[in-house]
Amino acid sequence: MSEGLGADQREHWRNVYARNPHMYGAEPSEAARHAARVWAERDARTVLELGAGHGRDALWLADQGLTVHATDFSATGLEQLSEAAEKRGLADRVTPHPHDAREPLPWDDASVDGVFAHMLLCMALSTEQIRALVGEVRRVLRPGGAFVYTVRHTGDAHYGAGTSHGDDIYEHGGFAVHFFGRELVGQLAEGWDLDEVHEFSEGELPRRLWRVTMSRPTG
Ligand SMILES: C[S@@+](CC[C@H](N)C(=O)[O-])C[C@H]1O[C@@H](n2cnc3c(N)ncnc32)[C@H](O)[C@@H]1O
Repeated sequence: MSEGLGADQREHWRNVYARNPHMYGAEPSEAARHAARVWAERDARTVLELGAGHGRDALWLADQGLTVHATDFSATGLEQLSEAAEKRGLADRVTPHPHDAREPLPWDDASVDGVFAHMLLCMALSTEQIRALVGEVRRVLRPGGAFVYTVRHTGDAHYGAGTSHGDDIYEHGGFAVHFFGRELVGQLAEGWDLDEVHEFSEGELPRRLWRVTMSRPTG
């Protein structure tokens, strides 16, 4: 994967949200509802969402009473999140943080109770960058906390379509996606307790995804 692809994708996602405000709608994803259930069992209070976009999930999680830190590298997405948070009276519970997932997370060790990333790990990140990011998630998550992430996988209709950037990354219609194989899910779970890998689909295509739930061991 070339260095330039990351910068191109950043610009792409800035434009995507500028042209299609609130493109994922106002309703939370099923994956976010699942994360909320998992965290409720563990008494989570402060959570981190990576790749939150315009915040359909971050806002709903805040509405459930959680304190939410929402990251994304799209300034336009986060502006829409902030405006919606103000309108819904949630601005004191959800904080947007401009952040590129290829950089270390600006949080202290064991400082959050849960982490959520819906379709972020499968963006234009190399396998090495994904591994580094999951290492960062493990560092900031408290022992016993759960990380819920979703990724498009190699059974998706767009796998292999469009321009190949290597490392199972394909760009189709301007969107670069790293399609996950099951082996990569297993590798990322090393040093974690892998609670569940659940297959589901979302959207009209439909996108074919895995929802992975894994916990930072307490021992
Ligand atoms: C498929 S969208 C999903 C958005 C949101 N999770 C949702 O489901 O509504 C992927 C998101 O990841 C963000 N993104 C892609 N690459 C990123 C990166 N390297 N760092 C931070 N955010 C990134 C995009 O701006 C976009 O908001």
